[in-house]
Amino acid sequence: MIPQTMEENDNKGNCQLHEYKGVSFPTKIHTPESLQYMEDFDVRDDDVFVAAYPKSGTTWMQEITTLILSGGDLTPVNTIPNWKRVPWVENISGKGFLENCPSPRLISTHAPYSIAPKKLKEGKGKAIYITRNPKDIMVSLLHFSKFVRFFADIGTLEECFRNFVSNKAQLHGGSWFTHVRGWHEHKDDPNIFIISFEDMVKDLRGSVKRIADFMERPLSESALDTIAEHCTFSSMKKNPMANYSLISNDWLDHNVGTFMRKGTVGNWKSEFTVALSEAFDTVYAKKMEGCDLKFIWDIAELHK
Ligand code: A3P
Repeated sequence: MIPQTMEENDNKGNCQLHEYKGVSFPTKIHTPESLQYMEDFDVRDDDVFVAAYPKSGTTWMQEITTLILSGGDLTPVNTIPNWKRVPWVENISGKGFLENCPSPRLISTHAPYSIAPKKLKEGKGKAIYITRNPKDIMVSLLHFSKFVRFFADIGTLEECFRNFVSNKAQLHGGSWFTHVRGWHEHKDDPNIFIISFEDMVKDLRGSVKRIADFMERPLSESALDTIAEHCTFSSMKKNPMANYSLISNDWLDHNVGTFMRKGTVGNWKSEFTVALSEAFDTVYAKKMEGCDLKFIWDIAELHK
């Protein structure tokens, strides 16, 4: 969700959202034309999409998939910023980045399934979709909105909650509920693989292996070790090619936060009141009715 041309541009402009087919996107980095380009995107057979609602672990998956493609060679993750290695197809610069990019390509998207590339939905290429428990997403989003300058501050946690649960969520990617349900409905499509942030926290090495198998890029034991070690939170937090420290203060206010913030499960507990958590649970039960997705909400649950 970071602009890909930020090295060249400053960020003097608005922080507004606009709607494309009922879904909100930041005006500064997506236009109706760039979103249409995404829908009509000329998917190649060996393209792999990293798809997620913002703050679900997209950056983490960009690092993992880059290393799976390189067979564990750290050169690309240590020398190329992630927005160039795994560019966003819906960004205004997506076309320029992707059309001349040699295969196999890794491509990021925050699009809900309804507007994902049509050819992907017809079975061309592959997509890895990351889920994350929505209370942690909300807290991550709240901090991110103070740190990033290209969309508006989303207010207090209570204000964020009201927005987050609204059917017309004024948030990048629209409603989380619609997003996650839309992709999850396609969990059995052979070219779609769904994995949770919490699974990756619980067993990073095992998760990397499952992702590599899906990508049909089997890895040696030593490559698996290298990738699992490089993709820990503490290691990625230090990597300027992944932690967005290269981005100028015009785009990100480095005085108020860091992109690699907590990287854990259950951080919401230190910010939600009991009342807010209960209100969330009530809406969640209603909006997720009939969906068999289960989330891990607490770090203690991971080790049961
Ligand atoms: P927090 O703000 O909760 O720390 P995205 O890339 O989709 O915007 O997601 C960002 C979230 O993923 C942030 O969550 C960030 O810290 C977390 N993250 C990124 N890399 C990670 C890693 N290697 N391990 C655990 N969490 C990671």
